[in-house]
Amino acid sequence: MQLELEQTRNIKEILSHYPPEQRYSLAVLQEVQKEYGYISPNHLMAISSHLGVPVSEIFSIATFYKALSLDKKGKCIIKVCDGTACHIRGSVNVLEEIKRALKINEGETTPDGLFSIEIVNCVGSCAMAPVVICDKVYHGNVQIDQAKEIIDEAKEVLLNE
Ligand code: FES
Repeated sequence: MQLELEQTRNIKEILSHYPPEQRYSLAVLQEVQKEYGYISPNHLMAISSHLGVPVSEIFSIATFYKALSLDKKGKCIIKVCDGTACHIRGSVNVLEEIKRALKINEGETTPDGLFSIEIVNCVGSCAMAPVVICDKVYHGNVQIDQAKEIIDEAKEVLLNE
């Protein structure tokens, strides 16, 4: 409940920087995404009400742009590259191991809110395929037995933040 109140207060603060005009819809959504890591139903309603834009329109924008998410993501998003080079060199097996270790599927977030898993296309580091990006750190030539190590390392950093 405290968190909800806090979020309501903060969203009001964000909205106060924008005049109530439709043209700020995307800018507000981007700022909310940056602040919370996702856009909740409450955020959509608050933005709609502040800008005087139908919530269906705000929702359309929020679902159109890939950089915006309506799902709460983990503090650390583990991105498993499944471009051609990574795929050929076993990214699927690495992904399976990460899913098993975290007990979630791609697109999901762990109950403690620490990790989400995403499958991404080529990240431009094919020479070190398969590639896993964890909290913006690139791990190359990842073998199945390294998956747990990568997660444990990231967890330690996250818990000490
Ligand atoms: S295919 Fe994975 S980095 Fe290029």
